[in-house]
Amino acid sequence: MRVGYIQTSPVFGEKEKNFENIDKIISKNKADILVLPELFATGYTFSSKNEVNSLSENLEGKTAKFLINLAKKTKGLIIGGYVEKSKNKLYNSAMIVSQKGILGNYRKLHLYYKEKLWFSPGDLPLQVYKFKEINIGVMICFDWFFPETTRTLALLGADIIAHPANLVLPYCQNAMVTRCLENKVYAVTSNRVGSEKRGEDNFQFTGKSQITSYNGDILSSAPIEEPFIDLVDIELENVRDKSINAYNHIFKDRQIQFYF
Ligand code: ACM
Repeated sequence: MRVGYIQTSPVFGEKEKNFENIDKIISKNKADILVLPELFATGYTFSSKNEVNSLSENLEGKTAKFLINLAKKTKGLIIGGYVEKSKNKLYNSAMIVSQKGILGNYRKLHLYYKEKLWFSPGDLPLQVYKFKEINIGVMICFDWFFPETTRTLALLGADIIAHPANLVLPYCQNAMVTRCLENKVYAVTSNRVGSEKRGEDNFQFTGKSQITSYNGDILSSAPIEEPFIDLVDIELENVRDKSINAYNHIFKDRQIQFYF
């Protein structure tokens, strides 16, 4: 099973240019699962809701078409973030697509900072998608801060978490070690690089996209500043056995009557 990420440096508002840059990076690489960053085609630092609206799409838009074409090249599943408009609401979403078309759509549950001004929080349940024999859960960027997200995906049977991101805080890459360990899942965090100074905001994105193993090993770590692609081979056998020794099982040992 080959999984990986593309780390990009999107140009704000220039969808075609951002698509072209990804086409160049992907080259002839094949992957069962490939994760692209959050909002990879639009950029992140919006200055008004009108601007977000003008970059929004539905599941039949140019970003969906681009991702389906990309999946034809990689022969696998692609997960990538976009601005979704549905019934007059805007969401920070990620599409899950194969070469056959759209397999799913995830709306970010935990909005970060001014995303709360632009987007509605996700209103769809967390879900696991099946592709070949892999169970894939999806969360977007700041969702990592809420351990309930990864835990719920793991309880739903996820083997691997696809994690499109535009990280601006320095904690996630380290935190994913714990998220993966405590759930015995793999994670592919696809981050972006570069900075975006727009309106009052000036974000520096942290790069270091990461593939984290169920045992806490970091299988891939991208550079801080450059676009990058990496793919690694993983096996699923160990992630489905949630025991950690003869006595401890990470799901069965939970004391849920004592938790909120
Ligand atoms: C973030 O959730 N993009 C920081």
